[in-house]
Amino acid sequence: MAAAMTPLARVQEGFRDKFGDLAGVRYFFAPGRVNLIGEHTDYNGGHVFPCAISLGTYAAARKRNDQKLRFYSTNFPKSGVTLTSLDDLVPLEKKGWAGYPKGVVWAFAQRGYELDCGFDMVVYGDIPAGSGLSSSASLEVLTGCMLRALYGFDAVTNQDLALIGQQSENQYNGMNCGIMDQFASAMGRENHAIFLDCATLQFEYAPLELTGMRLQVTNTNKKHSLVDSEYNLRREQSTAALHDLQERYDIKTLGDLSIEEFEEGKDLIQDEVCRRRAKHAVYENQRTIQAVAALKAGDLVTFGRLMNESHISLRDDYETSCPEADILAEEAWKIPGVLGSRITGGGFGGCTVSIVKDEAVEEFKATVGRIYEEKVGYPASFYTLDIGGGPREL
Ligand code: GLA
Repeated sequence: MAAAMTPLARVQEGFRDKFGDLAGVRYFFAPGRVNLIGEHTDYNGGHVFPCAISLGTYAAARKRNDQKLRFYSTNFPKSGVTLTSLDDLVPLEKKGWAGYPKGVVWAFAQRGYELDCGFDMVVYGDIPAGSGLSSSASLEVLTGCMLRALYGFDAVTNQDLALIGQQSENQYNGMNCGIMDQFASAMGRENHAIFLDCATLQFEYAPLELTGMRLQVTNTNKKHSLVDSEYNLRREQSTAALHDLQERYDIKTLGDLSIEEFEEGKDLIQDEVCRRRAKHAVYENQRTIQAVAALKAGDLVTFGRLMNESHISLRDDYETSCPEADILAEEAWKIPGVLGSRITGGGFGGCTVSIVKDEAVEEFKATVGRIYEEKVGYPASFYTLDIGGGPREL
């Protein structure tokens, strides 16, 4: 059997096939991310703790002599080549996967970085589709990294790439995401997680030394839908709760509240559902701060327990889990040697992340895999991921 093609070979083949030769073509990569703890806290002014992963999105790209933009993804061959031009980028006109790179071109222009000519771009991503490992943020950061290099926008920092990616996703693609995914992709560092305060963008790298343990990611393989609308609704509910709390507290975000303040003031929140949303945001922020302190102290047992509490809160209070992810997490908790397990990312499907002792990995996969398939009717997938670096030219 022929060896599997490398991602680079795939974008090269795609480029040659769709756009002719490879003369002057340049190559780029940007990672996806997995979030260890701190879920739905980013847009609530709280803390997150994600890391970039070795899976991500690759591009082959070359400038053109005219104003045209041409995009092709080897992941979506049936979509063919998307053709547009620099003066035809219209926000919120949803048009498949190419909306993401188009949105980034648009966001660059919003910040005064106008392109003087178009380009051809072929991409390939090895992040499983719909897995909640941020294939879209990876594609946005990739596009930014590529534009910076091709057009000489040297003043654009990696942190800018994160903000530009978020702006494009919010304003061009209509998904009101926070900053976590783009930040993790743009600022990733090998073997480190990023402890980020989303209110100030102050951050710190924390080494992830899991001696004798592994980071396991398990995909529900659930085709998730309604993600954007439910996500945007969670944001609205959090904002409504914040407004009610602001009657008493001088706060800008839910992340400004301690647990004690929340418990004292929670009855100000009129709506019971919004009250639970706010409870999650406040407690999850504090859990994330505690979890990072525990990790620094080498206390992985506490870190794992906080991961489990995060899952329960997402399941019961924020309601962004799903039965499939609940089965994965709850079955994992029963296995000795699993320190913690929780749904990761936006929710409604996607993956769980677990910390598993080396000697328990086989049992974890076999038992959780068997019970999942029995209950759900199709298998889960198991990945052991490496914590990779940020975006780069190849
Ligand atoms: C998605 C969003 C992020 C973040 C997470 C939940 O991944 O893109 O900004 O809100 O959901 O933590």
